[in-house]
Amino acid sequence: MQKILIAGGAGFIGSHLCESFLDENYAVICVDNLITGDKKNIDPLIKNSNFKFINHDTTKFLQSDELTEIDYIFHLASPASPNKKSPRSYINHPIETLLANSLGTYELLELAKKFSAKFLYVSSSEIYGNPTISQQTEDYFGNVNPNGIRSVYDEGKRFGEAMTMAYVRKFGTDARIVRIFNTYGPKMQKDDGRVISNFINQAIENKQITVYGDGNQTRSFCYVDDMVNGLKLAMFTPGTKGQVMNLGNPDEKTILEIARIIKNMVGSSSEIIHEELPEDDPENRKPDIEKAKRLLKWSPKINLEDGLKKTIEYFKKI
Ligand SMILES: NC(=O)c1ccc[n+]([C@@H]2O[C@H](COP(=O)([O-])OP(=O)(O)OC[C@H]3O[C@@H](n4cnc5c(N)ncnc54)[C@H](O)[C@@H]3O)[C@@H](O)[C@H]2O)c1
Repeated sequence: MQKILIAGGAGFIGSHLCESFLDENYAVICVDNLITGDKKNIDPLIKNSNFKFINHDTTKFLQSDELTEIDYIFHLASPASPNKKSPRSYINHPIETLLANSLGTYELLELAKKFSAKFLYVSSSEIYGNPTISQQTEDYFGNVNPNGIRSVYDEGKRFGEAMTMAYVRKFGTDARIVRIFNTYGPKMQKDDGRVISNFINQAIENKQITVYGDGNQTRSFCYVDDMVNGLKLAMFTPGTKGQVMNLGNPDEKTILEIARIIKNMVGSSSEIIHEELPEDDPENRKPDIEKAKRLLKWSPKINLEDGLKKTIEYFKKI
């Protein structure tokens, strides 16, 4: 049975990935220190004898008797929310975020080297910063403030990418980089301050829906099941070693449009209000996914309405 290590496996995307691999009869080792994730995300998996949870900070050397072999390592272990009002935000965990993507990436790559495991580093569209081109291709170097408030995440991810490629070049490690664009779905944390979870919870509770700035900034949102499929293909498809791939849904909407769609779908009486735009908030975000389409034969299948429906149902239930 093949063994997969998922760092950050108790988080939103990581827990879906764990579940999906268990369904396919892999042995899954979830490594997470729960800094922004939640044990509840993986509680249903604990009873599966093919699943093992190790509460561990990836920036430290991982020694465990369980680790006799590993075939694949997915590195998702990093805080991910930019909203400083959330206790889970990387703005409130600046040093941990820098270290998770630098030292954490180093430790996990060392593990990949030791076990000759295939490696996938989860980077972010944030490495493009506030892009000066409207649709970001992988060869765009970005427009990043190297020491602004978001730099702990942006520069952390850029360092993680550099470290991953250094292992490919120096040791021949079979590693690849995926730049994830905004992803949403069940198991996002209610208090993580990300756009979709914020709007849905505000709408369900008939509270004011808070749009930052005039709401004309754009984002494109990918449903988590599509993302999980993309991550798996990026790991398993031949020819992906050393490749950098955008994964996301190119269906671009303004934040104000998203607020209105969610309000209508929930049937909420919430008022949409505007608050100050956070520092270095990107004006647009739209992935160019031609490379993933070509290399992985992947494209997102779930449209915004269907994905939102499932996500709203989830938040109504919890
Ligand atoms: N969700 C998105 O829209 C999005 C967009 C771009 C990139 N990403 C990236 O995807 C990955 C997963 O994001 P998510 O949305 O699931 O966020 P999340 O916060 O739910 O998951 C991240 C997980 O990593 C764990 N973690 C963080 N630092 C750790 C450390 N040092 N040691 C062990 N575990 C640690 C957290 O506890 C959490 O469970 C992150 O790397 C994030 O940067 C996500």
